[in-house]
Amino acid sequence: MTQNKFGVKLGVDMSHFRNNIVFGSGRDQRICPGQHLANTSLALNVMNLLWAFEFTPDETTQKKGTKIDIWNYQKGGFYMPAPFPCSIKPCSAAKVSIIEEQFSSTSSLFENFESGDLEIKDLDDHEQMWM
Ligand code: HEM
Repeated sequence: MTQNKFGVKLGVDMSHFRNNIVFGSGRDQRICPGQHLANTSLALNVMNLLWAFEFTPDETTQKKGTKIDIWNYQKGGFYMPAPFPCSIKPCSAAKVSIIEEQFSSTSSLFENFESGDLEIKDLDDHEQMWM
């Protein structure tokens, strides 16, 4: 079990770890002033996704019994996992109802932030289903 903010095992030397490096080095007084908003929003989004959906290996991966390599990251400046097959399903019908209700009850608020002259009739069938 981990008991520290970096999620590493106990006993690992964390003296050089920084969890805000992505927001700039802080040299010359420049560091991202939006970092707390960004981090909090990200945490909320991840928590909501984990609350609502079940993430599992896709059917083919399950049938083959292969394991997804969680250390397979893309190379380059943006450090992120390489694409992998995955199944994402709502945890329950009750959670689907909550999401749909919340979506329709907040749509009128968020419509104010829509850009351009796009109207609901301009959306495709799948998008309209949510309006
Ligand atoms: C994951 C999301 C974000 C990342 C990775 C990020 C990253 C960065 C980085 C690397 C810089 C440059 C720092 C430097 O010059 O050394 C920066 C600057 C800045 N960021 Fe962010 N940022 C994020 C979200 C946000 C948000 C949500 C806001 C505002 C609400 C914001 C506002 C700013 C501003 C105003 C600057 C310019 C600061 C200056 O020049 O003094 N950022 N950000």
